[in-house]
Amino acid sequence: MGKIYAVILAGGKGERLWPATLALPKPLLPFGGNGRTLIKATYDRVLPLVGEGNVYLVATRELAELLGAELGLHREQLILEPFGKNTAPAVGLAALVLGELDPAGTMLILPADHRIDDEEAFHRALLAAVKAAEEGYLVTLGIRPTYPATGYGYIEGAEPLFEAEGYVVHRAARFVEKPDHSLAEEYLARGNFFWNSGIFVWKFSRILEEIHRHLPGLAAALAELKSHLGKPTWEGALREAYSWAEETSIDYGVMEKAEKIATIPVSFGWSDLGDWHAIWEVLRRDREDNASVDVEVYGKDATGNLVFSLTPKRVGLLGVEDLAVVDTPEALLVAKRELAQRVREIARGFAEREPDWPELYKLDRSGMLGVMERFPEQCREALARGREVVFPRELSGFERIVVVGMGGSGITGDLLGLAFPEMEVITVRNYVVPRFIGEETLLVGVSYSGNTEETLSAFLDGLKHTKKALGISSGGKLAEICQKQGIPWIEIPKGFQPRAALGHLLFTLLGALEGLGLRAEGMDEGLSILSRMAGELCPRSTPNRAQGLARALQGKVPVIYGAAGTTRPIAFRWRTQINENAKQPAFSAELPELCHNEIVGYELAGGLLPQIIRLFLRTSHDHPRVALRVEVLKEVLRRRRLSFLELHGEGETPLAQALSLLYLGDWVSVYLALLNEVDPTPVEPIAELKERLARESWEPWR
Ligand code: F6R
Repeated sequence: MGKIYAVILAGGKGERLWPATLALPKPLLPFGGNGRTLIKATYDRVLPLVGEGNVYLVATRELAELLGAELGLHREQLILEPFGKNTAPAVGLAALVLGELDPAGTMLILPADHRIDDEEAFHRALLAAVKAAEEGYLVTLGIRPTYPATGYGYIEGAEPLFEAEGYVVHRAARFVEKPDHSLAEEYLARGNFFWNSGIFVWKFSRILEEIHRHLPGLAAALAELKSHLGKPTWEGALREAYSWAEETSIDYGVMEKAEKIATIPVSFGWSDLGDWHAIWEVLRRDREDNASVDVEVYGKDATGNLVFSLTPKRVGLLGVEDLAVVDTPEALLVAKRELAQRVREIARGFAEREPDWPELYKLDRSGMLGVMERFPEQCREALARGREVVFPRELSGFERIVVVGMGGSGITGDLLGLAFPEMEVITVRNYVVPRFIGEETLLVGVSYSGNTEETLSAFLDGLKHTKKALGISSGGKLAEICQKQGIPWIEIPKGFQPRAALGHLLFTLLGALEGLGLRAEGMDEGLSILSRMAGELCPRSTPNRAQGLARALQGKVPVIYGAAGTTRPIAFRWRTQINENAKQPAFSAELPELCHNEIVGYELAGGLLPQIIRLFLRTSHDHPRVALRVEVLKEVLRRRRLSFLELHGEGETPLAQALSLLYLGDWVSVYLALLNEVDPTPVEPIAELKERLARESWEPWR
């Protein structure tokens, strides 16, 4: 006899629990009792039956990692789906993977997010089901209905088969779809119709046999996958094979048609917590029948209300009855509790209500969208131009590069640092350069306009220490200084906003520096990713991912987290692009440093600024301990119900991954500008400040 395995299925959108499920997947909502999440309660409940190593989770990677972290599961306990395809493929996949380990084993299929009151009765029911499974039955627990529910499918029980653990196991005559109200009343009266709990028990071999019989696409996918188990080819094969599988539920795809089905009628206090009314029912309520989680409620003449907030706060209720009030950083729901089933309509209504993008594009009066779309061409053109530059021989033989530049120009230095990991590259955003630089340093003055006073001042300061220098600008005083002093100067095209000329500044330099023996790895890869992204993110592909992200950041204060050595400058670019294009406050911070200070600020952040949204920018080249820190931080944020997003770079090389994240951020900032109803291009406060300073004469370059 094989062992018993618990397989938790974690799919489902939880639309009726909008807006909480915008912020957290349903299994992470804190309704599991004793302050636990639903998934933790599910896990704790089944543990005594199967033991720690035998609980598995099936979900897509992102969700599985989130939920696995919540439960402290090992990687091997996560069965990753390439994408969600309803429950039949998930069950088939788990049966294949686990059946290979233990062909005689039995699996318990458990939804991640149900509530059960009497755990002892639940355990006995499952043991009885395991007995029936040993006899070759596909078993489902049938909940004895307590009212004529129209929200559940039903199972019709037939003759009793045997008794075990105090339960009677019945043959199941048939599965029936959700009934209308009068049929539901009839089922209730008949007494042999039970709610389909979604909890199933069967042997691996039996469910695979029935899948083979009724779902040929899934069966073929599983047969193909068998030879890839445990091999590096697994992921690719899984993605391919999963696309053949029928997208259907195990109930509809298998149980409605299969042979030897049994059901065990149970009444252990079950709820699928599908909507806010169901949540209200299971929560502890005060004398006025108000239930609340994580909020301090003060009520007067208020009864039967549910109040839930993702950020702790005080809520006053005056003269209101039977409402569901649900507050999250993104959205607020106020609904009659009896209409809880229809909250899905609200969720869908909002999802469909995309902004009128074509109308918003008209706000882009100065043409930033076009510049953005042509960015990959800008980079290619610049690279070609840079490769034509011939530097005098005296310029070579440096050990370090110091780039002086501000704002949109200064970022060039940071990106050069990423492009040349073997070389020390320092970006100076100041009037002076560090004292330690000497003839071993190549000084690069970068100013798009050529007129930025800090850059000019630092460039002149640097020239006192090294003769190895070059300037890059579209003209201005930097060009004059270079020409007067016989310093190589690279001209780039006029007519751009400095921040939108990053391709010209960076790639011209990358091309030119090749002549000095510096070659950046990953340029070709980066450029081809940028070209693809231009097509995916441009206004013609509406709605797109950048627009979705812009919507998530609208009305928030984004705090962008980068990692030292990889995404730190990209986080800074996101921040400055959001500032300059979207005219919106944004901040950036750096890992691991922020683990030593910023995180302490989470303690009050919930109360002070629930509209902060954190964004983790990640690459596969982040230090492994930094990657681990991100995982831990995500757990902390989740526990504190603070919202965050996570974005991964595309491609292989560090440069390609950095550029892909940078370009995504640039698009997001422009779409965010349009959502904020501002023209992305003008940056009047910068110009004003420059003008104001120009009035106080200070011209070290004269
Ligand atoms: C404006 C922008 C600014 C400038 C900065 C320095 O688009 O990006 O951050 O880059 O004021 O000016 P330049 O680049 O001309 O030296």
